Amino acid sequence: MSNALKVVPTGAALGADIEGVDLREIDDAAFKVIEDAWHDNLVLRFRGQKLDDDSLADFSARFGDLDMAPTGRGGTPYDPSRPEITVLSNIVEDGKELGALGNSELVWHQDMTYNDVPPKASLLHAREVPETGGDTSFYNMYRAYETLPVDLRQRIQGLACKHDATRTSSGDLRHGYEESYSHEERPGAVHPFVIRHPATGKPALFLGRRPNAYVPGLSVEEGDALLDALWDHINNGPHHWTQNWRVGDLVIWDNRCALHRRNALDPTTRRHMHRTQVRDDARPVAAWAS
Ligand code: OGA
Ligand code: MN
Repeated sequence: MSNALKVVPTGAALGADIEGVDLREIDDAAFKVIEDAWHDNLVLRFRGQKLDDDSLADFSARFGDLDMAPTGRGGTPYDPSRPEITVLSNIVEDGKELGALGNSELVWHQDMTYNDVPPKASLLHAREVPETGGDTSFYNMYRAYETLPVDLRQRIQGLACKHDATRTSSGDLRHGYEESYSHEERPGAVHPFVIRHPATGKPALFLGRRPNAYVPGLSVEEGDALLDALWDHINNGPHHWTQNWRVGDLVIWDNRCALHRRNALDPTTRRHMHRTQVRDDARPVAAWAS
């Protein structure tokens, strides 16, 4: 293992730089340091990484099996020979979108928590980024839970939340879904409000995203009031850090204990990222489960 490998926490609520490493050539000892640092810091950034799709997929797969990318507009993957790679971009060339998520505003979210087994991690590698704008912010959901007022903590004890499957993180209706579901009918997954992280054992607030969230067992008014209080706690809290992208940055986040969102992006600038997603082994477990 390279002796130069160094973990440098951002000093904010989460995030650390890993310095002195080329992700194309890490051994098991270096990977162990990286994985421990990831569990401690929730989000890791590796600057100046020269990763093609093979090396991005290889490094990502050290964390677990990879998800296949959602298909592009034409129903095929962006690159059928590398179905693990998603392209995120606002660039349009010859009338064709290079990638997904464009320049629409993204709200705080966890990825694909509308599935019973949401992904464990997502990785983004910056190919092309604007001077300013299009930064990505991350939120520490262990801290969100630790700092929750006692009354709110008691109110969510034993409760679960239904996570909406019908809209994207930018609020667009997904293909094949309708506008008009009732909360009971709307497709999605139900997860406890507080989960126990399978690796660290620590409790984390688990919210997914706000739009169309629903608390089974409460009236819509009661559930909405509870969700609003939880999201106010997030929005008023200081437990976040923003990644200002440079070309070559590789960022991995822990989807079980961190929220993320992309900040505003000037549509006249170019942003192009390659992305992978790591599967988890099991559905989230309630912090109060024995
Ligand atoms: C994602 C996502 C934000 C970004 O890849 O899941 O939300 O900054 N991306 O592109
Ligand atoms: Mn996302």
